[in-house]
Amino acid sequence: MADDRLVIAVPKGALYEQTAARLRAAGVDVPDHTGRRLTVMSGDGKAELLLLRPTDVPAYVEFGAADCGIVGKDTLWETDRSVSEVADLGYGACKLVVAARRSDNYHNGARYPTFLRVATKFKRSAQAYFAERDLPCEIIALHGSVELSPLVGLSDVIVDLVATGNTLREHDMVVVDDIAYSTARLVVNPVRFRAKYDRLRELIERLEKRPE
Ligand code: PRP
Repeated sequence: MADDRLVIAVPKGALYEQTAARLRAAGVDVPDHTGRRLTVMSGDGKAELLLLRPTDVPAYVEFGAADCGIVGKDTLWETDRSVSEVADLGYGACKLVVAARRSDNYHNGARYPTFLRVATKFKRSAQAYFAERDLPCEIIALHGSVELSPLVGLSDVIVDLVATGNTLREHDMVVVDDIAYSTARLVVNPVRFRAKYDRLRELIERLEKRPE
């Protein structure tokens, strides 16, 4: 029965491979490569995966188009969508930082300009960070390649994710301050959680079992 099927919102991109591996270990048989497909069925037909941009996962879950979803905590910091976070899956670790050109010496205590220009994909988190410190700033919202902006004079600092640190290193940039840590989370639609309690509970328990 179609209604019996679990619909799981899955992020494409950096989190996809580890998400697919974890789902497989939890008994949801999903393919390695999805090409340009938008949905895939598990091998046993018991689950349907929606393959989404990470930032779209919360909307699909809030409105019940998916029963549950996997998404980075960094996406949850920035979303207005209402979903329940039920498990920290541990993988996809990265941190949100303030970073700048090494030569600006902010990491060694050099003063920021009086009206700081901050480029970021994480508008809300950046705004909160500088507001808490009473530092007036202009947030410049970007959608990618944020590290470029201080190098070409668009911003003084960036607020961005660091995973391996390679992107900062390659551009002679350094971390000025750590803001927060992120990992992949399982989120559910609370109404669906009650309606499909047994299946979702089982999935949560299986997903929480971390591989060696
Ligand atoms: C993310 C992030 C950094 C980079 C950090 O960007 O915004 O740019 O990864 O990873 P690293 O510390 O391992 O180098 P993403 O790959 O999502 O691309 P984008 O620039 O298009 O946002």
